[in-house]
Amino acid sequence: MNSSRRRFLRYAVGSSLGAIALGWLFDFSRQGQALDLEQLCLKYPYNSRCADYVPGTPATDAEGTVYSVSALLTQQAVGDRVRVEGLEKPAFIVITDGPAIAPYGLSAVCTHLGCIVDWNGEAFVCPCHGSRYDSLGRVTRGPAVRSLALITVATGDDKVGLLDQPPEADPRE
Ligand code: FES
Repeated sequence: MNSSRRRFLRYAVGSSLGAIALGWLFDFSRQGQALDLEQLCLKYPYNSRCADYVPGTPATDAEGTVYSVSALLTQQAVGDRVRVEGLEKPAFIVITDGPAIAPYGLSAVCTHLGCIVDWNGEAFVCPCHGSRYDSLGRVTRGPAVRSLALITVATGDDKVGLLDQPPEADPRE
């Protein structure tokens, strides 16, 4: 093979590889723009935009002020259940030993007829017909017969995210 042919082949292969790499990068960046952050970080968790990403809806107080992990852990005691907004209905997050925020929370919706339960420091109590639930949301007094629903609580980068889905590990088992 003469040297000009070799040069041509090298040029052709190099150009093709460069075009493939540029295409991939372009496609990757287009996908990054088209996807919202949640989709992007689920698909590409190592994307630089996902370093501080916490899934779910930010937990807020009743006035809509976003809770931070550090503020919650400073203001609350171990064992507290803190009512938070962010999902369609209120929920409670759980302060555990550490102190830390548990990776699960409890829906505040009574499983009898859907009133919002209160936390009295020892139990969840429904103001409508008196159902009671223990600290993990299990029924201790009817008329409710089903436990409070569990939610997933994600933390990171001093943020608290709420997801309306069961946690990976069931704290009641
Ligand atoms: Fe809660 Fe009836 S709605 S006890």
